[in-house]
Amino acid sequence: MASSVFIVTMLLSFLFLLLRTSPENTAAAAPYTSLFSFGDSLADTGNLLHLSPETNRPPHFALPPYGETFFHTPTGRFSDGRVVIDFIADSLGLPFLPPYVGEEKNESGRRNFGQGVNFAVAGATALDDEFFKKIGVHLTPNISLDCQLNWFKEMLPTICHSSSECNEFLKSSLVVVGEIGGNDYNHAFLGGIPTDFIKSYVSKVVSKIGSVIHELIGLGAVTLLVPGELPKGCSAAYLATYMSSNQTDYDPETGCLNWLNDFAKYHNSLLINELNHLQELHPHATIIYADYYNAAMQFYLTPDKLGFKEGALVACCGAGGPYNFNASVQCGYPPTKGCADPNLYANWDGMHLTEAAYKWLAHGILTGAYTNKNLNIISSSFKATS
Ligand SMILES: *[C@@H]1O[C@H](CO)[C@@H](O)[C@H](O)[C@H]1NC(C)=O
Ligand SMILES: *[C@@H]1O[C@H](CO)[C@@H](O)[C@H](O)[C@H]1NC(C)=O
Ligand SMILES: *[C@@H]1O[C@H](CO)[C@@H](O)[C@H](O)[C@H]1NC(C)=O
Ligand SMILES: *[C@@H]1O[C@H](CO)[C@@H](O)[C@H](O)[C@H]1NC(C)=O
Repeated sequence: MASSVFIVTMLLSFLFLLLRTSPENTAAAAPYTSLFSFGDSLADTGNLLHLSPETNRPPHFALPPYGETFFHTPTGRFSDGRVVIDFIADSLGLPFLPPYVGEEKNESGRRNFGQGVNFAVAGATALDDEFFKKIGVHLTPNISLDCQLNWFKEMLPTICHSSSECNEFLKSSLVVVGEIGGNDYNHAFLGGIPTDFIKSYVSKVVSKIGSVIHELIGLGAVTLLVPGELPKGCSAAYLATYMSSNQTDYDPETGCLNWLNDFAKYHNSLLINELNHLQELHPHATIIYADYYNAAMQFYLTPDKLGFKEGALVACCGAGGPYNFNASVQCGYPPTKGCADPNLYANWDGMHLTEAAYKWLAHGILTGAYTNKNLNIISSSFKATS
């Protein structure tokens, strides 16, 4: 009797141990132990919110329905829920990336960035504000890629204390640079700068992205993931701003504006060249291009098939109009309203995408379907249904 109780107890303890030690997240075996992110609103997890001055009129993205789907409160993400970098962090078994500009501190009054941090700021540009001043474009916020790189350099001594220690630490880091550059064009397009002129400085934007990647590699980064531009011509904000009565402006298959998509493709082609060049220059590094454009194009081509039953072009949150986007009232402020089910939409607020759309992009990257090299993250660890 006593011995059978003993055996049962042993068996139960054994089972308990088995359950305890079985990895909850298969990505525990992933080769990256930290994650760093540079970019703009596509990747911001709260930096702009922390940078925003406290006033009695909170920024629109600090209000519901931002955050409603996953965090159930606005977090500073420009979406109803998680953005691509959140899905990447999750698949690596890492916590959601904290914004660098933030208040959370550990017990010793310092923040710990050992598992990574996010430098991406909504509205950020690749080029410095000096360039935009020259062409008459006013930037808010005034955060460039160089500024984010300076934050990175300021942060590094909190995790490593010599270049060999930093090299060792960064060897197992995944560094995501982008998407960035979109605002270098958005601010100019919306400021009325002619397209030909904007096109003339795409190579400048791409060189800046390249020089920052070059510097990051010099500091010890080894694996870099670099997303390109989304199909701008499919964005509700652009579709509403550049509405045309000329049907040949539109792609009959998707309803997107051809000339803006051509612009995004132009940026991406220069970026791919730049990355190939950098890869030759740094054979020990792995520089991976993430093809946001073609990953997103799948939901613009066949929204229904991917679950975007309300179509991919109309924004979920807005104040009406053919694309539910009105530049004079931003999502969050009245009279805008969120839609009943953001999962059925790809476009969130005009410029940004829904969590469901970001999940699709992340899936395309993590499985390697839309990257030029494999990230070596076990693709099954991506919890596509979570
Ligand atoms: C707090 O953060 C600092 C800086 O990263 C680190 O050295 C320290 O070990 C952390 N303390 C705790 C309790 O996490
Ligand atoms: C933007 O930031 C840079 C670097 O911090 C600074 O030199 C510049 O004066 C700022 N420009 C504006 C318009 O605030
Ligand atoms: C319509 O758009 C096409 C291409 O976008 C252009 O070539 C053509 O000149 C335009 N037609 C008119 C009447 O503006
Ligand atoms: C955009 O919103 C403003 C403010 O609510 C309104 O006056 C205007 O008519 C709207 N424009 C369109 C095209 O719906």
